[in-house]
Amino acid sequence: MSEKVKQAMEYCAKYGQEHLIPYMRPCYSEESLKFATQILQHDLRLIRDRYTVLRDQEENLCMPPEIFDLLYADTETKQGLFQSGLSAIKSGKVAAVTMAGGQGTRLGHFGPKGTYELPFDPIQSFFEIQSQSLIELRDQAHMEIPWLIMTSQENYADTKEYFEQKRYFGYGRDKIRFFTQSMIPVVDMDGKILVHHREILLSPNGNGGIFSSLHTSGNLQWLKENQIRHLFICGIDNVLVKMADPLFIGFAIQNQCDIAAKSSLKKGPKEQAGVFCLRNNRIAYLEYTEINERIADATNERGEYLFGDIGIGMYVYHIDLIEQLSECPLPFHEARKCVEYSLPTGETIRPEKPNAIKFETFIFDSFSHARKVSVLRVPRNREFAPVKNMRGDDSPEDAAILYSKRKDPLL
Ligand code: UD1
Repeated sequence: MSEKVKQAMEYCAKYGQEHLIPYMRPCYSEESLKFATQILQHDLRLIRDRYTVLRDQEENLCMPPEIFDLLYADTETKQGLFQSGLSAIKSGKVAAVTMAGGQGTRLGHFGPKGTYELPFDPIQSFFEIQSQSLIELRDQAHMEIPWLIMTSQENYADTKEYFEQKRYFGYGRDKIRFFTQSMIPVVDMDGKILVHHREILLSPNGNGGIFSSLHTSGNLQWLKENQIRHLFICGIDNVLVKMADPLFIGFAIQNQCDIAAKSSLKKGPKEQAGVFCLRNNRIAYLEYTEINERIADATNERGEYLFGDIGIGMYVYHIDLIEQLSECPLPFHEARKCVEYSLPTGETIRPEKPNAIKFETFIFDSFSHARKVSVLRVPRNREFAPVKNMRGDDSPEDAAILYSKRKDPLL
C-alpha cells in the first residue's frame, strides 16, 4: 500500500470520515492514490468541528418544549383560569396592545393593514373585529380596559383618522391610545444607506420595537401610574383573536410567568409561522423565515411534527418585564426586499430582484430575558385564522368561513 493511501486512511479514521476508506480500495490502484491526495488536501478536523457545532445547535438548542394543551384541560381548570383572569381585568390590572405597524400591501390594500375591510357579512376591518372582541369583554367584565395601538410612523395619521371616522367603533375613546414605533434606515447589499427623493429610506424597526416605543411614547409610565400589571399583546391579522382573553390572562397569573404565549398546532411543514422550541432548556422561538427544512419536517414516532406548536401572535407580558425590556435592545434580523431608490442625479431605480436589507426586531426575541415563559396551546379553529394573502392559504375568504363559525358549539 502506498504511504499516501495509508496516511489518508488514518486521517479519515481520526476525524470520523471512515466511510471514505472503501473508496481507496484496492489500495495500490492509481485511482486510490488520486483520491488519497484529494483527501489530504482538506482540513478534516475543521469539517468535524463545524459539523459538531451545527449538530449541537440543532440537538441541544431546539428540543420541543412542554406546552399546556387547553383541549385536554377539564372544565374546573378552565373555569379557575377564566375567573382568575376576569378578576384581574375587573380590578383594572389589564390592558391590551395591538401591534399594527404593518401595511396591507400583500392584500392589495394601500393603507394600514388594520383598516383593510374583510368580505364578512357585514364587512368588517381588522380594527373593527378587535374592537368587537373588546366590547364582548366589556359585557363580561362590566368595564372597558385600555387599548393601546402601536402604528408605524408611516401609518399613524391614517390609523387615527380611521378610528375617528368610525367613531371608535363604540369603544371608549378615552380608553384608546395610539403610539408609534421607531424607524431604521434601509441599506443596500453592501450596507450602504439607500435614499429616495433626497430622503433617507426608513422602515419600521419590527414588532420587537414595542418595548422601547411604549417607553419613549410615555405609555409605559402611564400604564404604571394606572396600576396595570398585565399587558395582552397581539398582532392585527387574526380574525379569531380573543382580545385580553380572561382565561389566557388567568393562565399567565396562575403560572406566575412573565410571558405567556398562545400556540396552535401547525398545519404543514411549509406554514408561514414560527415554532416554539427549547434553547438551553428555556422556551425560545424560531421564526419561519429562519427555520431549516430539517426542523420544519421533523416528526416523532407517532408522525406528529416535533416542532409542531406555532406562534399565533398572542402574548401576555408582565409589566415589570416590559419595563426591563424597554431599555434592552433586541437583536436585528434581516429581510431582503426589492426597494425603489434614487441616485444623486435624481434617477429612480426600480429593482426587479431584492436589492435592499430591512432590519427588524422580533417580539419573541424577548423570551430570553424572561424569568419564565409559559405556552398555552389553543384549538386552532377557535382562535387562529390569519389573513396574509389575497388568495390561497390564509386568504380573506378562508377567514370569513372560520369567522362565521367561531361560535358554533359543534366545532
Ligand atoms: C407573525 C409572527 C410569526 C407568527 C405569525 C402568525 C413575528 C415577527 N412573526 O408573522 O412568528 O407565526 O405572525 O400569524 O411576529 N408589526 C408591527 N411593526 C413592525 C412589524 C410588524 O407592528 O415593524 C406587526 C404587524 O402589523 C403584525 C405583527 O406585527 O400585526 C406580525 O408581523 P408580520 O410582519 O405580519 O409577521 P408575520 O409574517 O405575519
